[in-house]
Amino acid sequence: MQKNKKHFLDLTDLTAGDLRGILDVAHERKAARGDAPRGAVDADAPLADHILAMVFDKPSTRTRLSFDLAMRQLGGQTMIINRGETHLGRGESVADTARVVSRFADAAMLRTGAHERLNDFAAAADIPVVNALTAFSHPCQIVADLMTFEAHKGALDGQKISWFGDAAGNVAASLIHAAGLADFTLTLCAPPEFAPAPALVESARAAGANIEQTDAPMIAAAGAAAIITDCWVSMSDDPESADARKRALAPYQVSEAVMAAGDDPIFLHCLPAYRGEEVVADVIDGARSAVFDEAENRCHAQKAILLWCLGV
Ligand code: CP
Ligand code: NVA
Repeated sequence: MQKNKKHFLDLTDLTAGDLRGILDVAHERKAARGDAPRGAVDADAPLADHILAMVFDKPSTRTRLSFDLAMRQLGGQTMIINRGETHLGRGESVADTARVVSRFADAAMLRTGAHERLNDFAAAADIPVVNALTAFSHPCQIVADLMTFEAHKGALDGQKISWFGDAAGNVAASLIHAAGLADFTLTLCAPPEFAPAPALVESARAAGANIEQTDAPMIAAAGAAAIITDCWVSMSDDPESADARKRALAPYQVSEAVMAAGDDPIFLHCLPAYRGEEVVADVIDGARSAVFDEAENRCHAQKAILLWCLGV
């Protein structure tokens, strides 16, 4: 890979300056578009003549739409590769898939299960690779979440962001990584069996993260500027564990009482959401919810990520 091209595999690969730069570009490009039609190419068309390969080993709605639109608006094009329609679903290695994709595209994004598959894909690729979710992390989502936070609540510095529910999942992991790159306090509210791996928290703290952990929802909610959650059963979780997971996580549902304890908080959720499980309908469909801004911001955030990867 050329020197000015980079993979975007995890936020831990970024400096605080890299993250700030990506967020700034995302905000600037969103503002510059104004209310241009969705299909209009950005005035500078920075990725004209570029192709993004979008490789899906797992399902997606938002990631698929937002990367596709991001590339179109940057002046480029996409190729979509779905597991079930390609040899990925018949056992061809991700490394060989990456080598082939590298001959046809200028960048790739991969959504998969085991993080090792992403690492193997990236190691074999000679084009930039973006992590579009693994069982371990979902960094694109957190860039969109931080962007959404800034748009609604202003600077992150000194703010309290509280995570409710499964704190051992992929979206929570990337938020923990982000806490090492920005000056907000992250409060994780989960039962002990759904706490993040201690090593993940320790390495984020070593990077400067201010992370608090509690299993008391009202303590976590008090003074929060944002309350975030995720589904209780993720794509990579054993479906047979679903009932036990839902029972254990039930006390960590984001309710109106939780939101009322915050400091005029926004509600964020990566989606898909399950109303009546991790969040009540009145919260996700209520005035404090920013979840559809958050979904839209995936496009703007990923434009900035792609430009960072390609050194444009
Ligand atoms: N938030 C998110 O990544 O959504 P999809 O699974 O629909 O892509
Ligand atoms: N934790 C969820 C996120 C979906 C975007 C999952 O992995 O299914």
